[in-house]
Amino acid sequence: MLTLENISKIYQGRLPYQALEDVSFSMSAGEFVAVMGPSGSGKSTLLNLIGTTDSLSSGEVFVNQRPIKALSKNELADFRRTTLGFVFQQFHLLDTLTVEENIVLPLTLGRYGIKEMEQRSDTMLTRLGLKEHAKKRTYELSGGQAQRVAIGRALIHKPKLVLCDEPTGNLDTKSSKEVLQLLAEIRLEEETTILMVTHDALAASYCDRVLFLKDGRLYNELYRPTKQGDFYQQISNVLISLGGTEDDFSSVRFS
Ligand SMILES: Nc1ncnc2c1ncn2[C@@H]1O[C@H](COP(=O)(O)OP(=O)(O)OP(=O)(O)O)[C@@H](O)[C@H]1O
Ligand SMILES: [Mg+2]
Repeated sequence: MLTLENISKIYQGRLPYQALEDVSFSMSAGEFVAVMGPSGSGKSTLLNLIGTTDSLSSGEVFVNQRPIKALSKNELADFRRTTLGFVFQQFHLLDTLTVEENIVLPLTLGRYGIKEMEQRSDTMLTRLGLKEHAKKRTYELSGGQAQRVAIGRALIHKPKLVLCDEPTGNLDTKSSKEVLQLLAEIRLEEETTILMVTHDALAASYCDRVLFLKDGRLYNELYRPTKQGDFYQQISNVLISLGGTEDDFSSVRFS
């Protein structure tokens, strides 16, 4: 579904900085993959390149065998609107709108009738366990609820590829688990392909595979064994071998 071929990113500034170097990997449709690595290793840069909010210095990104570079301006806008969904650490919700208005927002940009919008919003609110909160403003929500709203908004148009940058970074353990469970279920139901940046080994253990970045290069790759607990241990071991202490990768960040 997604293929990256030898991609590199050099930020041009007074001192040019190579944030990614020769990164290649593929994801099949419906795969749930985590990206881990120390701060500054290029994780967000990677998501931005795939999400087309930043441009490649070299290499190629293919979505369904088509190079993103070859898309026209209109096709690119269409790609962003229909194929992609984004979830961020800061939920980026609009606090002048209600929960259901936030969720339905992406549909208002497309060709959806009112009925269809209501139906989808209703299904999604139920799916997210937010039905009783539908009329609330977003500042009346807990962190976990707010992130579920953000996920609803990212998924309401049924995107094929969802990019998440530390979706559990601001959440406590219980809310993190709810959000991860939700992502895992939705990708099974909709065959959504999900790429998720995370510092948290527990979050990564929900995925099928973990890619590790170090200094802008692919450092290691792990596939999930049968047991999630074993996977968590394997991931933690790679994080320790990456250098730093486990605290650097903990879901609780103090910086
Ligand atoms: N717009 C930019 N201009 C110049 N350098 C940048 C820019 N964005 C990121 N960088 C640099 O590229 C490197 C990778 O940054 P990136 O944001 O991808 O790291 P990250 O792995 O997401 O880190 P974190 O875990 O802290 O979010 C860093 O050294 C960063 O300083
Ligand atoms: Mg980042």
